[in-house]
Amino acid sequence: MDEDVFKSLSEIKDLWVLLGVAYSHPLAQAPWVPTREEIIPYIIMLAKPTKNDVFYDLGCGDGRVVIEAALHGAKGVCVEINPELLRKAKENAEKLKVFDQVTFVNDDFFNVSIRDATIVYMYLLTSVNRALKPKLEKELRLGARVITLDFEIPGWRPIHITRVSLGYREATLYLYMKGVSDI
Ligand SMILES: C[S@@+](CC[C@H](N)C(=O)[O-])C[C@H]1O[C@@H](n2cnc3c(N)ncnc32)[C@H](O)[C@@H]1O
Repeated sequence: MDEDVFKSLSEIKDLWVLLGVAYSHPLAQAPWVPTREEIIPYIIMLAKPTKNDVFYDLGCGDGRVVIEAALHGAKGVCVEINPELLRKAKENAEKLKVFDQVTFVNDDFFNVSIRDATIVYMYLLTSVNRALKPKLEKELRLGARVITLDFEIPGWRPIHITRVSLGYREATLYLYMKGVSDI
């Protein structure tokens, strides 16, 4: 894991989730630490998903972010290596009546084409973002937006940074644009 042990396990938040090995997966490159609900409106403000967008969450966990994008009209793609989490994501999408708007992919995100993405969300470690960078550079179309939480894409220049106070710590959202951030 490292990266200052996932930013001190994202300041010990949801430690029970990390300790709840129920949700760990041997091939996962980052643990399941869900995006806190209070950050999601800021992601939506940055991403501005509409019905013309295809919103990917690489490592989508229980689907909470991609489902919110779908509630704003986007088509969603929820890519998750852990089948148990993907099952929860499907349940959540069903409950919120966006199941048909979201494609669920139980695979390693390195194996999944993101060529049709207009927005990509990643809450992953910097080292994983670095490893994904060649894929983002190769597959994303010009103008595609990439949003990362707390961990930057090394070598890319964010076009906007949003800081969200959580009281006990600050979360940071980085917005990148293909064709601008990567040159
Ligand atoms: C920090 S969590 C973020 C979950 C979700 N995106 C959110 O923001 O609530 C990282 C997620 O990535 C998944 N993951 C890690 N490595 C993966 C891989 N190689 N392919 C697909 N999913 C992966 C983990 O199982 C975990 O659910």
